[in-house]
Amino acid sequence: MDKLLIDGSPPLTGEVKISGAKNAVLPILAATLLGSSTSTISNVPHLNDVTTTMSLLARMGCTITMGDNMVVDVDPTTINDYTAAYELVRTMRASILVLGPLVARYGQAEVSLPGGCAIGARPVNLHIEGLRAMGADISIDGGYIRARAGRLQGTRIAFDMVTVTGTENLLMAAALAKGETVFENAAREPEVVDLANYLIAMGAKIEGAGTSTIHVQGVDQLMGTDYSVVPDRIETGTYLVGACVTRGKIKVRDTVPEILTSVLDKLREAGAHITTGEDWIELDMKGQRPKSVSISTAPYPDFPTDMQAQFCVLNALADGTAKVTENVFENRFMHISELQRMGADMTVDGNSVTIRGVERLKGAPVMATDLRASASLILAAFMADGQTEVGRVYHIDRGYERIEEKFHMLGAEIQRVPDR
Ligand code: UD1
Repeated sequence: MDKLLIDGSPPLTGEVKISGAKNAVLPILAATLLGSSTSTISNVPHLNDVTTTMSLLARMGCTITMGDNMVVDVDPTTINDYTAAYELVRTMRASILVLGPLVARYGQAEVSLPGGCAIGARPVNLHIEGLRAMGADISIDGGYIRARAGRLQGTRIAFDMVTVTGTENLLMAAALAKGETVFENAAREPEVVDLANYLIAMGAKIEGAGTSTIHVQGVDQLMGTDYSVVPDRIETGTYLVGACVTRGKIKVRDTVPEILTSVLDKLREAGAHITTGEDWIELDMKGQRPKSVSISTAPYPDFPTDMQAQFCVLNALADGTAKVTENVFENRFMHISELQRMGADMTVDGNSVTIRGVERLKGAPVMATDLRASASLILAAFMADGQTEVGRVYHIDRGYERIEEKFHMLGAEIQRVPDR
């Protein structure tokens, strides 16, 4: 296993290119299962979660071909096994996304209950209830979800709470169901919209993706197609926060400013000068220390939970005091104790943390506990005196492509070494 050694950073300067979105490519790769022919997916990020998903599909019998520049062909017609085994899915909760497509297209699925980040209980009851409402027979046995169905039936599904992968799983199922499915209180995340656009390109009839009510008219068949994955808004935000805390100036390319509005608003409030073009964002701190900004996470279009840990670091180094409130997950403050070990002044009270900014942090050996928490530790290390050692780098590799190379190009003193 590797670790990262970080010896601080001057103000980050330069340009960085953003990869395809992890949270869009995973449902899109799962949705290739719905097709009656090969799909060619491009702008695929090189991430461990993507490799896991491709292994999952290959294990089912799909024929996968990797071209140059991470263009991936998936031919689902050679499928001969409808199982997602525990050994593959335990590292990645998003593996649940094959459930809807398998049931809708092949009438059967055995999917291990997911593992993934240790950020709260994260049940999948809404996925299961939705498929049952569409006519699937589902039992849970030995840690597996076992599903059987004839052709699924369209129905009305009103989600009790906003669930991103729940919306995606049922959207994929509804695409091949008989009749109309109406989703209420659906997730509005840009990655849901990207999945819907891919399904529409395959021949699905979907209206309202990106709003909380989605209408799907089921069709008899979907065909494989070519599709390019939307850029990663969380990766974009992470680099912008890096420039903000180091008082630097960077230009982020190959991104989509419109899907980062809540994050850009908070960065402006922190004192960042931000300009945007069609596919780029430039952030300039003009050498100034950021100001504290309170945030409260909620489903899109509000402030994303996946940027909460990074903004804890921003506030740890900012001028002033701020309150960060986590409303989406019940246990997503594991990075706080690691940041406190680096000298951050933070007090947790329930699902909120009060953060009083300090000028500098102190390097320390720290442990990554989940994907975004890991990224926040790297950002903290940039403004720490002495060396920081970030362990358990596999969390970072699940969701950030070549993070140490990209930050190194922007000026950070960061290197990956084997952890023995
Ligand atoms: C997705 C993202 C993740 C992000 C999260 C919230 C992917 C692969 N992952 O995760 O990066 O942090 O959205 O934006 O896209 N819940 C239930 N029952 C369910 C489903 C969810 O109670 O059946 C609860 C969860 O415990 C959580 C909340 O709903 O408290 C939101 O979870 P959800 O939106 O489903 O998160 P994921 O789709 O797993």
